[in-house]
Amino acid sequence: MTKESTTLTPFAEDVMEGLQAEKKHLPSKYFYDVRGDELFQQIMQLDEYYLTRKELEIFETHKAAILEAIDEGEPFRIIELGAGDGSKTKVLLKHFLDAGADFAYTPVDISGNVLEILEGNLKAEMPNLRIESYEGDYFDALAEISESPEKDIVFFLGSTVGNFGQGEAEGFLSKLQEFLKPGDLLFMGVDLKKDPSIILNAYNDSQGVTKEFNLNLLDRINQELGADFDRDQFIHYPYYNPHTGECRSYLISQTEQTVTIDGDEIEFRSWEAIFMEISKKYDQKQLKSLADASGFTSLKTFLDSDKWFADVLWEK
Ligand code: AVJ
Repeated sequence: MTKESTTLTPFAEDVMEGLQAEKKHLPSKYFYDVRGDELFQQIMQLDEYYLTRKELEIFETHKAAILEAIDEGEPFRIIELGAGDGSKTKVLLKHFLDAGADFAYTPVDISGNVLEILEGNLKAEMPNLRIESYEGDYFDALAEISESPEKDIVFFLGSTVGNFGQGEAEGFLSKLQEFLKPGDLLFMGVDLKKDPSIILNAYNDSQGVTKEFNLNLLDRINQELGADFDRDQFIHYPYYNPHTGECRSYLISQTEQTVTIDGDEIEFRSWEAIFMEISKKYDQKQLKSLADASGFTSLKTFLDSDKWFADVLWEK
């Protein structure tokens, strides 16, 4: 038996599979180590990264209408997938509480650390909020939580769904839908098609934070898998395809080089690319087909004043 087949972590396995592929790729879900979390916080502060501000504007403007669309006077449960620091969600939670809605809030995250901080913050600000957090995988959480009789509303915010390609998004949402009861809801943040230069700038910021965010994954592979990537040999290249709505980020090797990962050699040709991340933008027609393909009916769409971002409310 080879060493690999017994000892590789999922991270190591995904990295090796991606770098040994014909078209090299690395999964963007691994961006988020401690340094990556920090860099993403910085990205959200950038003028060019409009997504976070636009979604916050939607919550502040439409919080009453959002509650009205969700609340039927019966108790309900909000399950938030990938809750993060909750800075946007709390605008809604506060309003829901003030309006006297009867609900519990279940943030789901793979990081227990993130959940602890979130719980501490929310409890300090909203002592009356019922929080039951779940540490673990999204689908494990849904399998367990969705057993309960009350109406579930799944929050999947911030355009996280954009990290899936078309087929992957359909697969993910169809599977999510299977855990829900008829009448349960999905409240999901999606970034919309707009002037392509606005989109490209959000992923090609002038301070180079997004470049750093991508290169950090090479550093992480060096640290955790004992590799010897020289980050200075790679350029960051994002591009936006207005036809598909896909913004894709690449790291591109400027030279012919060999990188060693725990004894395995990975060859790079000059200008060979590693596909790092997809951040997909939707239009109304694409959203409609995504809802149809994954077993949801669209109830309402909430937009910011520029129509750059949408939070959609879909029903099973
Ligand atoms: C956290 C997935 C919504 O794709 O816009 C930000 C991550 N990548 N800048 C996005 C990200 C580069 C972000 N999401």
